[in-house]
Amino acid sequence: MDEPTRSTEAPAPTEWPYRSTSLTPVDAERMATLEHAVWFEVLPGASAAETVREFDYDRGRAVEIDAGDRVGMPTASSPQLVGIYGAFDMHLSAPAADGGVTRLPMNGLTWVGVHPDHRRRGILSTMMTEHLHGIYASGESAIAGLWAAEVGIYGRFGYGPASLEVMLQLSSGTDLSAPEHIATAAEGIETHMVPAHTDEATAAIHALQVEAAGYTLGTATRPERIARWWFEDFPKARGSKEQRQVVFATRGGKPVGYALLRRTSEWDEHNNPGGEMRVGEMAAVDAPSLLALTRRLLSFDLISTVKFYARSTDDPLVWWSGGPRSSAMKVTDALWVRLIDVPRALGERGYAASCDVVVEVKDDVCAWNARRWRLIVDGSGLGRCEPTDGPADLELGVQVLGSAYLGGRSIASQAAAGWVMEHRAGSVLELSRAMRADTEPLGTSGF
Ligand SMILES: CC(C)(COP(=O)(O)OP(=O)(O)OC[C@H]1O[C@@H](n2cnc3c(N)ncnc32)[C@H](O)[C@@H]1OP(=O)(O)O)[C@@H](O)C(=O)NCCC(=O)NCCS
Repeated sequence: MDEPTRSTEAPAPTEWPYRSTSLTPVDAERMATLEHAVWFEVLPGASAAETVREFDYDRGRAVEIDAGDRVGMPTASSPQLVGIYGAFDMHLSAPAADGGVTRLPMNGLTWVGVHPDHRRRGILSTMMTEHLHGIYASGESAIAGLWAAEVGIYGRFGYGPASLEVMLQLSSGTDLSAPEHIATAAEGIETHMVPAHTDEATAAIHALQVEAAGYTLGTATRPERIARWWFEDFPKARGSKEQRQVVFATRGGKPVGYALLRRTSEWDEHNNPGGEMRVGEMAAVDAPSLLALTRRLLSFDLISTVKFYARSTDDPLVWWSGGPRSSAMKVTDALWVRLIDVPRALGERGYAASCDVVVEVKDDVCAWNARRWRLIVDGSGLGRCEPTDGPADLELGVQVLGSAYLGGRSIASQAAAGWVMEHRAGSVLELSRAMRADTEPLGTSGF
């Protein structure tokens, strides 16, 4: 069987006034102008150079059009940027063969935007094709991920929602009833709070995020190169909000967890404090560290409500605090995953059960994936995926594999919803059991 050819070419639209272009730091002003036009609030008070500083010029590109002669536009301006996308070289914690997690390279799509005057003319479609073909050609990762602004956008490009984000709202002072051995171990853990934006704090956050990702299914980690200004403080952009704080947990002086938060001050008509704390990201290397951190966050003065974002449906926090009926929980889709290279992606993660199935994959954007693949998983939990001309046991779109990749959304549940066609009885359950994980993936924080 021939290897599929690696091509970087996106289909060239006919009679299309736009062209795809690379970017350099010289384009900062044009990029910032487009970002503001798309999002109408990016980073007030930040210069163009600061706004675009996280942009990775090797991974992101744009679409431009000759400026033309229109009312209000500078006559001698350079071509107008009308579409842009960026990407980060991230890592994703996927199921491993031993039941733990394995951190895999993941291209994290970000900065996607098309100018309001130029929407619905195929600019996003062109950018996505170019982006996905480019990742395949470079071989940098077998999977891509993103956070979707709207659920209707990315399924057509082969992405499937692979994790759910739980927002858990607890009242300050909520009693957490953890098993005694966890509670006892948590007593030896200390906490302290500092502003998050300093070099020292961001370096410690990054190291802890990576360490905790080695234990936590679903975590998407930021590249070290840009982690240092991810939490940079822009006073004008945050207005009256407090600057982001980080609470570190330490055991014997060694960092074992962190929580990123902002508090909002609130007073009722009787002058009682009723502030709100939002915890955007929290990671810990073990259960006692998570418990110690959470207890600290629930015991702040002047705060009556704490909202924990980016948790999972079976999170320890949910059950320590009394289960779903004891807290207001809100669930949304979190990370969307796309298999760029099906055989490599299926060979890189581990499996919970053995299987031998032939899967017919449909993929309109990455044609090299669209064929029959045989996935063989032996008792070791390792999988081998190879092309085959044998009859298909089941048939599915590539986004179904993306949804199932972290083991949270099962193949069987997607089949029940009609997204999988079964040609051999039992093959849905066979693949479903192999791909399922023992815990729900944590909802990552957005990027
Ligand atoms: C979302 C956005 C990038 C789409 O760009 P675009 O150039 O208009 O998209 P295209 O013309 O290439 O559309 C491609 C397809 O997606 C569909 N689509 C585009 N935006 C969509 C949306 N918000 N919801 C549902 N479908 C959408 C189009 O209808 C089209 O469908 P078709 O192929 O069946 O005709 C653009 O509207 C935008 O910048 N929105 C604001 C910022 C944003 O949401 N960015 C995404 C960040 S994750």
